[in-house]
Amino acid sequence: MSLKTVKKINNIKNVYEEGTCYSKVEFGWNPQSVQWYLESEKNTSYYKKIINGLHPFIYDSKTVLDIGCGLGSFSIEFAKRGYSVTAIDKSLFAVETLLEKIRLMNLTNLNVVNKAFEEFTFYNNYDIVFISYMMGLVNDNNIIDILKRVNKRLIIVLPFRKVKNDFSIDELYMDLGVDLINLVQFNYVDMLDILNKRNYQYIINKVTAEFGQHFNNIDEAVNFIYHYFKLPIERSAGVRKWLYKKLTYNNGKLFLSNLRESMMIII
Ligand SMILES: C[S@@+](CC[C@H](N)C(=O)[O-])C[C@H]1O[C@@H](n2cnc3c(N)ncnc32)[C@H](O)[C@@H]1O
Repeated sequence: MSLKTVKKINNIKNVYEEGTCYSKVEFGWNPQSVQWYLESEKNTSYYKKIINGLHPFIYDSKTVLDIGCGLGSFSIEFAKRGYSVTAIDKSLFAVETLLEKIRLMNLTNLNVVNKAFEEFTFYNNYDIVFISYMMGLVNDNNIIDILKRVNKRLIIVLPFRKVKNDFSIDELYMDLGVDLINLVQFNYVDMLDILNKRNYQYIINKVTAEFGQHFNNIDEAVNFIYHYFKLPIERSAGVRKWLYKKLTYNNGKLFLSNLRESMMIII
């Protein structure tokens, strides 16, 4: 499926993928969210910052496995630096979009597999296994098996905050009187608990980068908030009012800032 096709099916309602199977990673791509993500990744230094920060730990490695690669922004950064990359994701929308990017960039060292991690067969080990924003995927039960597949480094990127604050969403929840418990997420501290229990050695490094979103109009911004956050539909007037306060103008479009704070865990 080309990017054009993704755009074409943009209007078809209910064409979406639920992201909950096997693991606790909850993430669903649909044509609209693919477009939003493609737009925001064009304007962020987040991916470059993370891969540059990893350089001292990975420069002597050759192969990378990116589990839950999404639209492949990290995989592409690795591939551009010459690593031989295998990227896996269970979402067909994500994989098809990444394949199109690879074609346009003419990358020959990035191999994409449309599979859930739990169904992926390891024919060999990888110097680096890289897992970003896959909350709950690495857990007490599988950490030993995952580490067995790593020649040099297991790298896990997770949110810094325990209470999700992407796009300052915690402020909106408080404005609307919606319990912040709904924004509690698996964060890097939860992962460190798993590692500490087993006395694994690791290094942590925090990365902060703007990862905001542009919109054509306020309705699109409201749809965006409702796509990513489970808020009561009857509170949409409150959501709209909050967005009017938060949105700024940037490059001729509305812009919702998002200072993303992530922690890299290098094992
Ligand atoms: C939050 S996104 C993260 C994407 C990318 N790693 C990043 O940090 O930009 C999570 C991705 O994991 C994928 N995913 C969720 N569970 C998965 C599983 N069990 N196996 C493979 N991919 C999975 C989803 O389809 C989605 O693309």
